[in-house]
This record gives sequence, structure tokens and C-alpha cells, in this order.
Amino acid sequence: MNLGPYSAISRSSLALGLLSAAVVILLTTVFVSPPGAHADATGASSAQPTMYLPSISDMMIGTIQPRHERIWRAEQAGDWDFAAYELGNLRGAFGRLGRAHPMEQNTPLPDMIESVTRQPFEDLKVAIDRKDDADFGKAYDELSEACNSCHQALNHRTIVIGRPAGASQSDLLFGKAGR
Ligand code: HEC
Repeated sequence: MNLGPYSAISRSSLALGLLSAAVVILLTTVFVSPPGAHADATGASSAQPTMYLPSISDMMIGTIQPRHERIWRAEQAGDWDFAAYELGNLRGAFGRLGRAHPMEQNTPLPDMIESVTRQPFEDLKVAIDRKDDADFGKAYDELSEACNSCHQALNHRTIVIGRPAGASQSDLLFGKAGR
């Protein structure tokens, strides 16, 4: 069939029509995708949760302070085994703190931890091994002083640690193991 000059016009308008349809589809794909849901080259979504590194204060509240208190509560209840157990955990928590935050205010945190806690930890261990309440009290105060000396050195003198006061709110039962 020969449509003469009209056939050329209809062919080019058909091509134009197809082209605009393609552009519309392309734009729709780009703009309709929900934000943050673009797939990367591996096909995985880029909307991943970010890693959470607990801050120093988070670790203080979560891993250091409760153990410091429990060591005291255990000794008060005469549960020397638990005091020894928790002393080990407190040392471990300080180790993890130093590895997670190697520098704070231009101070190498692991060195700071070692210099302030080494002696109190040794004295506490000896007192707990001997089940000596008087020596335990002295070593516990030394440890609280170690907490405070670091807080002061790192410009947080408002945070003052001492012997736990009042009744424990804890659900931990000391001296009941094996009963
Ligand atoms: C090597 C240094 C260092 C030592 C040792 C240390 N702390 Fe801290 N602590 C810090 C720093 C730094 C902060 C403040 C972090 C911040 O807010 O940025 C802090 C904050 C705290 C806070 C406040 C957290 C809050 O958000 O309310 C508590 C409670 C605390 N420490 C308890 C202790 C106890 C208990 C000990 C001892 C068993 C101790 N700390 C030993 C460095 C130390």
C-alpha cells in the first residue's frame, strides 16, 4: 500500500510517539521509586542500619557503674564468690571500653584506665581472696577515687562516685547460690 507523502509523516510521528512513551516510562521509574530503596550494584538495598558504637557514657552506665555497685552489694551480703566474679567482669569491661574508645580528648584511654585502676584492682583482689572486710572497704574507696580521678582529668568533675547508699533495687540475690 502506498500512502504517498502521508506514509513518511505517519512513520515519523509513530517514532516520536514511541520515544515519548519511553521517556515517560523512564521518568516514572526514577521518580516513583521510594527514597532510600535504590538497589546498589549487588542488588542489595542501601537502606542498611548504621553501626552503633556505645559512647563512653553509655558504657559507663551499662557496663561499669552497675558492676562497681554489685561488688559492694555482694561484699555487704558476705558473698565473696560473687564479689570475685564481678571484679573480673569489671576489669573486662574496662578493657573493652579502652578498645572501643582508644582516644578521648587527646588522652590514650587504655593507658589512663591502666594507670588509675591497676592498684585498686590488685588491692581489691587480695581483700576479696582473704575475705577481709576492712581491707575491702579501703580498696573499694581507692577504686572509687580512681573513677573520680579520671572524671576530673577528662573534665567531668561533676560525676562523683562513692560507696552505694540505701537499699539495693536489684533482683540479684547474694549468698543464695546452691540453695
Ligand atoms: C579512664 C577514665 C575513666 C575511668 C577510670 C572511669 N570513668 Fe566514668 N566516665 C569517663 C568519662 C570520660 C565519662 C564521660 C563521658 C561523656 O559523657 O562523654 C564518664 C562518665 C561516667 C558516668 C556518667 C554517665 C552518664 O551518662 O550519666 C558514670 C556514672 C561513670 N562514669 C561511672 C564510673 C565508675 C563507677 C567508674 C569506676 C569504677 C568510672 N566511671 C571510671 C571516664 C572514666
